[in-house]
Amino acid sequence: MIELVTPIDLRSDTVTQPDEAMRRAMAAAEVGDDVLDHDPTMAALEERVAGLLGVEAALWVPSGSMGNLIALFLHLERGDRFLAPLGAHVLDAELGTAAWLAGGMPHALAPVTPETVIAAGGGESPYYGLRTTLLCLENTHNAAGGTVTSVDEHASLVAAARSIGLAVHLDGARLWNASVALGVPLVDLAAGVDTVQVCLSKGLGAPVGSVVAGSASFVVEARRVRKMLGGGVRQGGVLAAAGLVALDRIDRLADDHSNADVLASGLRSLGWEVAEPATNIVLASVPDLDKTLLSLREVGVFASPMSGKVRFVTHGDVDSSDIAEVLRRLREDV
Ligand SMILES: Cc1ncc(COP(=O)(O)O)c(C=O)c1O
Repeated sequence: MIELVTPIDLRSDTVTQPDEAMRRAMAAAEVGDDVLDHDPTMAALEERVAGLLGVEAALWVPSGSMGNLIALFLHLERGDRFLAPLGAHVLDAELGTAAWLAGGMPHALAPVTPETVIAAGGGESPYYGLRTTLLCLENTHNAAGGTVTSVDEHASLVAAARSIGLAVHLDGARLWNASVALGVPLVDLAAGVDTVQVCLSKGLGAPVGSVVAGSASFVVEARRVRKMLGGGVRQGGVLAAAGLVALDRIDRLADDHSNADVLASGLRSLGWEVAEPATNIVLASVPDLDKTLLSLREVGVFASPMSGKVRFVTHGDVDSSDIAEVLRRLREDV
């Protein structure tokens, strides 16, 4: 007889289901036509996120990819070079839209330090050379395993970029995780940037939505580009209401981080080669990625490929007993 196991889904922190409280808030949201005027619930969300990030204004967008694209679209002239960490989401996981639609020439940096930023982006080049205009940071860094950039590191990278005249965009899809892991406010981790994008649909558990933020004049232009990309929504307060509930759940991310720690040390004790997680992402090096993902799936543990490794992501829909169950299944079968 085939034993059916309940899958434990660790592919991403985007797989969470909105709970009753979130659904109730969505159903009860006060709404308006955000394309014509301004939806009041979206406006409340945008104001709250701008406050958390310490910037003038913010704009709800359907996805993190759209938030990044809008920022890059407005920062870059066609053919401008931009710097981003090797493996950055804007480089590898947004269909090349940074080049295709925003017109940028990508340049990957590894490692990202003030010295590598200045070496890559500074100095004179002949008139036919590339013009470098933007540094795009990512905190936490997904493909590196949810690694965190500290406040000091962040400040020195922004200062290096400024010293050679670059604008700075921060892909903060999981900036909340960095803030909780470091125990510092978001505003310190976004200090000095021109624009920042944060996701409500990852560890915070909203079904949809991100926010792109910066100066008031940036947001005026961002609203136009969002509409151009088909991201103008009408009664978007239904979605923004979920985002407002999600913002009350930032502290909960500490549970995801401790579950990731337990998972990593449990995997290690089973002989897996696992990097120390900094937040909610655990990367394991395995000899045969496809085979391992398949064997995991056979025992009802869903993981995803990332940077040639197995990626497990903890989130609000798995608790410590699920992590114990994952380790039990792997002890027996994989
Ligand atoms: C670092 C980072 N930036 C941006 C995004 C894009 O977010 P979305 O899937 O909402 O487009 C992701 C998604 O996983 C991400 O990990």
